[in-house]
Amino acid sequence: MDILSHVQDGVCRLQFNRVAKKNAITAAMYAELASQLTAAAHDPAVRAILIAGHPDIYTAGNDLEDFLVNPPSGEDSAVFQFLIAISSAEKPIVAAVSGAAVGIGTTLLMHCDLVYASEHARFQLPFTALGLVPEAASSLLFPRLAGYPRAAEKLLLGEPFGAAEAYALGLVSAVLPKDELLPHVERQLAKLVALPAGAVRATKRLMKSHDAAHVASAMRTESAEFIERLSQPAAREAFAAFLARRKPDFSGKD
Ligand code: COA
Repeated sequence: MDILSHVQDGVCRLQFNRVAKKNAITAAMYAELASQLTAAAHDPAVRAILIAGHPDIYTAGNDLEDFLVNPPSGEDSAVFQFLIAISSAEKPIVAAVSGAAVGIGTTLLMHCDLVYASEHARFQLPFTALGLVPEAASSLLFPRLAGYPRAAEKLLLGEPFGAAEAYALGLVSAVLPKDELLPHVERQLAKLVALPAGAVRATKRLMKSHDAAHVASAMRTESAEFIERLSQPAAREAFAAFLARRKPDFSGKD
């Protein structure tokens, strides 16, 4: 069970549970997340959704080994279905981030509504270093959140950054000490669940509706570029180097 899920107290609770592999997300895990988000959308008992990780790791992002063996091939791929489900969810989504949130671990947060991070959370968008491009409409959403120069630094250089900087960039709602993260998240979820669900959903819909078509279009454009780059020499070298625990050699592999 690499994704844990259960509904309790009005909340659909989804948790990455593949700690030995730093919660790296395989195609099967994306499919499970998409399916759980769809089920939550239709379950009247669900008034909010939580996407959590482990106290020491949120997620290392796409599973690079799985990507080599089982690359996404288009909009029917599991990762794309997950992105459609999370970006179009009508119910509020809360994220609890502790440890590293790499790649899609950071970009998925741009589709959550309340994002809480522990002080030791770390964020990274290492797409260029992997020979890839941003996904999850982050090429649109991140510059809007952070302003172009600051988003460009993170997306072009791909260096990790901490929770305080993520807060300053507009990626997270609040930063908490590690052992206060989950109690705080539970209090915020309880508040959300107690509010009139129709008003909560309509408020989210109003905030999201202005950008929905642009977000969908950005996701499709990014996905086509991402998929093409996955099979290029730079990405193959980056993935092989990560798995062999060596530095990549990009010479002649632009
Ligand atoms: N895909 C596949 N396997 C991954 C992975 C990923 N994205 N991230 C970590 N793992 C695996 C490692 O290969 C290792 O497996 P092993 O024990 O069988 O050798 C295990 O998880 C532990 O990872 P390790 O790198 O030793 O942990 P760490 O604590 O030193 O570093 C990270 C943690 C998250 C900083 C580091 O693993 C990392 O940078 N991962 C890659 C992130 C990435 O590039 N994601 C893709 C974004 S598109």
